[in-house]
Amino acid sequence: MVTTTTAFDVALSRLTIDLGAVRRNYRRLCQELGGVPCAGVVKADAYGLGADRVAPVLIEEGCRLLFVATLDEAVRLRQIAPETVVACLNGVLAGTEEVFLEHEIVPVINSLEQIARWRSYCGKTGEKLPAMLHVDTGMNRLGLDEREFDWVLETPNVLDGIDWQYLISHLAAADDPDNPMNAEQLNRFRRVRQYLPHKMKASLANSSGIFLGKAFHYDLGRPGIALYGGRPAAGRDNPMDCPIRIEGRILQIRTVEAGWTVGYGGSWRAGRETRIATVAAGYADGYLRHLSSAGRAAVGGVLCDVVGRVSMDMITVDVTDVPAAEAVPGGVVEVLGPTVTPDAMADAAGTIGYELLTGLGSRYVRHYVDDVE
Ligand SMILES: Cc1ncc(COP(=O)(O)O)c(C=O)c1O
Repeated sequence: MVTTTTAFDVALSRLTIDLGAVRRNYRRLCQELGGVPCAGVVKADAYGLGADRVAPVLIEEGCRLLFVATLDEAVRLRQIAPETVVACLNGVLAGTEEVFLEHEIVPVINSLEQIARWRSYCGKTGEKLPAMLHVDTGMNRLGLDEREFDWVLETPNVLDGIDWQYLISHLAAADDPDNPMNAEQLNRFRRVRQYLPHKMKASLANSSGIFLGKAFHYDLGRPGIALYGGRPAAGRDNPMDCPIRIEGRILQIRTVEAGWTVGYGGSWRAGRETRIATVAAGYADGYLRHLSSAGRAAVGGVLCDVVGRVSMDMITVDVTDVPAAEAVPGGVVEVLGPTVTPDAMADAAGTIGYELLTGLGSRYVRHYVDDVE
């Protein structure tokens, strides 16, 4: 019998991405939106999971609008998704107008200057080109602020000549359902929408916003992190499936005596005789150094502590309580996945799942699975 060994089989650290979980998450969000269309935010290479694999799956599930941050992301996505509306959140900067037109990318207009720029470009081409209007309702990052919006209301025809598709705003604290900012932003968005002379559809909710209820849904949901398994609300049960699994192989097992230290700086000292598994995954793979003596890893079904400093290519894990047959050189450890979730790991590292996922290293051998139902 001939067996084929793949790079994935022999990899020291590997990343499996379950596109079936992304599908289920998209369906779950659609269900929560109760018939309101659901876009997909696939910026930063689909939060590190691979936009070239994630975007087609979302499209197959019925997604008709994809958001990215930068124009070059939009141009790349256009090759992958030739029929889908692609919108670019970071706006239209001077000199980029033609690229938008050539690749049929919809700019999200974030300032008065950009309104003037896109209007003037529409005038030049003789076409009413599509765009979205971003109003700021409390984030103070991108979008027209209150004074600018008032100016728009007082200035006749300033929005003419553009094919406005959506009015959008972004929630600053939707992952904390009890935060009063959510209602404040909703009220500001309502006011803006009410006074806007041009009829546009509206979109306010990111992943967490979708779970804040119907009032936040308007005409389009814009989830990112929940597609990739991130929890919509901090401190509550996570209804999303985790699509990623990172496994590292055990390179060595050693026993250290009580009082000995492990790793750089001797920062961790054994309180008892301890079996240490040295596992192939380090900060060069995106395994955050802040997880030194703070992370967990699942070995043979047992949740174990990462002890000592994270190094470039390795972590050291206390496997004293793991059955000896499970913790052996060559054995596979779940570094991140359904047991050690991105949110739990991010909490332990003092960061958020977004940063963790977008920082996944390029050294992992990647493998995509997809259980379409
Ligand atoms: C304007 C806008 N909408 C939607 C999203 C998606 O947000 P989330 O990943 O929290 O669902 C983002 C992400 O940063 C964004 O900037």
